[in-house]
Amino acid sequence: MEENKSFNRRNFIKTFSALAGSSLLLSSMPWLNTIKAEGVGKTVRLGMLGIGVRGKLHLLHLLQIPDVKLVCVCDNYEPHLNQALSLIGEGVKGYTDYMEMFEKEDFDAILIATPLHEHERMTLDAFKYGLHVFCEKSMAISIEQCNNMVRAQQEANKILHIGHQRIFSLKYIQAYQQIKEGKLGDIKQIRAYWHRNNDWRRPVPADSTERKVNWRLYREYSAGLMTELASHQIQVANQIYNETPEAVWGCGGINYWKDGRELEDNVNLVYKYPGGSHLMYDSMISNKHYGLEEQILGSKGTFELENGKHWEESPPPAPGILKLINHIENKVFDTIPLGGASWIPETAENKKGNYIMDEVMEDDGTRMMLEAFVANVRENRIDQMLMKEGFYATVAALMGYEAILENKIVYWPKDLIL
Ligand SMILES: NC(=O)c1ccc[n+]([C@@H]2O[C@H](COP(=O)([O-])OP(=O)(O)OC[C@H]3O[C@@H](n4cnc5c(N)ncnc54)[C@H](O)[C@@H]3O)[C@@H](O)[C@H]2O)c1
Repeated sequence: MEENKSFNRRNFIKTFSALAGSSLLLSSMPWLNTIKAEGVGKTVRLGMLGIGVRGKLHLLHLLQIPDVKLVCVCDNYEPHLNQALSLIGEGVKGYTDYMEMFEKEDFDAILIATPLHEHERMTLDAFKYGLHVFCEKSMAISIEQCNNMVRAQQEANKILHIGHQRIFSLKYIQAYQQIKEGKLGDIKQIRAYWHRNNDWRRPVPADSTERKVNWRLYREYSAGLMTELASHQIQVANQIYNETPEAVWGCGGINYWKDGRELEDNVNLVYKYPGGSHLMYDSMISNKHYGLEEQILGSKGTFELENGKHWEESPPPAPGILKLINHIENKVFDTIPLGGASWIPETAENKKGNYIMDEVMEDDGTRMMLEAFVANVRENRIDQMLMKEGFYATVAALMGYEAILENKIVYWPKDLIL
């Protein structure tokens, strides 16, 4: 397998470990302590279930993590299975039936990257076979299924890690640290959005079916934008507020891609958190001008986490020469007409801002997240706080989905297992 040259593991883990030394972060993010660069020695035996777009990316990462032995892979679409086997090389068994794989193979943990409606059943089955589970986000398609997964995890006493990679992104971790140090002041609002301009369809090969390939567009398999995109950004908001939302209201529908899909092509929501803080959320797939962002709006400053940028509310004054250049550029010496408007427009100032991190890091958190899972399996370390992040993000995403479907305010459920 060819090494990913752009990824410097040692460098990465060094930065990660330095952050893990921060007591400010460790109390709320104990998982930072899990990844170690050296001296692992003990092999972790893995299986994979679902090797489509996401599963293939995980496979490529796993092949580069030291002391990982891939034992078996399963996908019920043979071209995906064969492609995975050809990437791995000799010695790994392929299956189309995951129960047969669980029955026949001996390994420690399974990585599940199948469509959302399959997550619960597969996780529960994996626990019955004594496996640790990494399951892609979102956790499941209903809150009842999420509860079932946690209950099964508790009974099995095995790891259940839900794949929210921003939790392991160095850019985000550094931002959380700066937020905890007070850099943004009091945060009362987060605005997050994910905009694309395409129909979100994948081409359907002759030997497959529309619903198998485009499962994201149908209610039986997914909750659409809420579970596929929003859950990532809701997880970020939960982590920044260190709370879960009390309530959500919103609307959405299919108002552009009227092509037989069942799930919304736009969602617009307000999440209310304790203490009167909010997450304003929207996602759409008929305009991509603003792209993807989480804007953290504090009394002392603003972060844009995807851009990795920071603006102060009251930046320190620039040196005299820069002020002069700025005045000249903005033509402040132009004649001001007497009797003009008595107000100053409050449009945003075009300030460049600073970067949250000095160094650009290549990983969006996915690689470190997998490293952490492997390390936890090796040490048999069950991290309930990490599982909760995935659980709460999915619960909140599904609340938003229900608010839109039922056209009502949805409150944080009282019957949650955690
Ligand atoms: N964390 C992220 O950023 C991120 C990004 C993309 C996808 N995902 C998540 O990953 C999961 C998979 O998404 P994807 O885009 O890879 O989907 P995909 O459709 O590309 O891949 C799913 C794979 O699962 C296989 N599969 C389905 N049912 C199966 C079964 N019963 N037994 C065996 N194999 C089965 C399919 O054949 C397919 O190869 C979803 O939960 C999605 O939300 C996460």
